[in-house]
Amino acid sequence: MGASLAAMTAHSQLMTGGAMHEAMSAQLSDSYIHSTLSPAPDHAWSLSVELAAVQKNWRKAAHDALLGRHTNRLAYRRDPVQWRPAASRFNGAVHVQLIKPGRALHLIARAVEQSAQARFQCRELHEWLHDSLRWTDEQALRGDGLDIRTLGLPYPARALLRFLAPWSRQQRLNAIGLHKVLAAKEATGIRDAPALLAITGPRYPKAVYAAGRAMLEAWTSLNSDGYAVHPYYVITDMVNRLRADRLDTGLASLVQASEVALRAALPSMPSDHQLHMLLRTGRPLADVPRSVRRPADQILMAEFGRLASH
Ligand SMILES: Cc1cc2nc3c(=O)[nH]c(=O)nc-3n(C[C@H](O)[C@H](O)[C@H](O)COP(=O)(O)O)c2cc1C
Repeated sequence: MGASLAAMTAHSQLMTGGAMHEAMSAQLSDSYIHSTLSPAPDHAWSLSVELAAVQKNWRKAAHDALLGRHTNRLAYRRDPVQWRPAASRFNGAVHVQLIKPGRALHLIARAVEQSAQARFQCRELHEWLHDSLRWTDEQALRGDGLDIRTLGLPYPARALLRFLAPWSRQQRLNAIGLHKVLAAKEATGIRDAPALLAITGPRYPKAVYAAGRAMLEAWTSLNSDGYAVHPYYVITDMVNRLRADRLDTGLASLVQASEVALRAALPSMPSDHQLHMLLRTGRPLADVPRSVRRPADQILMAEFGRLASH
């Protein structure tokens, strides 16, 4: 299987590529998995796996753990998180830091709020979100978007989200501060979190890919240990857009302030490293509806069909 990427989405796609690699590697030895990453500018990656090895060496426990991995966007219990990150396997290219309640966590909540204020004022991201929302069971079953039920929104908030779909409405209400209200709500989840996981490292493509691997490893391990996980990509996305000159100039100061707050929270992060992913974690208060998994044969290439027919 493989993918070719546009530079503009390279970071999230590289993270996803790394996560796919890790999902395969957890079920098989790395020696059956071949990945390549082409040099800049388009950072294309490809991933392939020896199918004969899948049949012989498949690790069922790891497979079950992967199927149990999921996103929980609801509130969590306040109990302390006892989980510890695994030792880094990526030669210092990825750092996974567990952040407990305290000053650093508060600074990160501020950084999320500032970046989210910018995001709610960004037309491209607004339209992307609304295009990806799936409102009915029939739409959600296609497995190609964000099932509205997984957001855990009470009915009035759902209705507001639907009302806000046309950008012109969001824009008019932003003029009286709606983006601030929505961003404050988003940051509350972080402020109240029993713990956060910050995945950081250098910006070069192989390090981002490795961060995707570390993200999936930590996420699966947390879920297996009974902890809920909710990823927050907003700081990473906004800071990357700022750096790549893909942000309205009017939003730059908010994102710069967000980066300052983040760096104050993570003082040991070198200046040439960045936040790749932030995960909120804790014991779940309630289970959530699970996103539908797309049938593998819609994603994998032709060889999978041959394996299935054996
Ligand atoms: C790179 C990346 C960034 C993500 N960013 C967010 C985010 O900012 N907020 C969020 O709620 N979920 C985020 N997610 C979670 C996805 O929306 C989620 O994994 C997807 O809907 C599938 O659901 P599942 O995790 O339950 O399988 C992100 C996932 C990835 C891989």
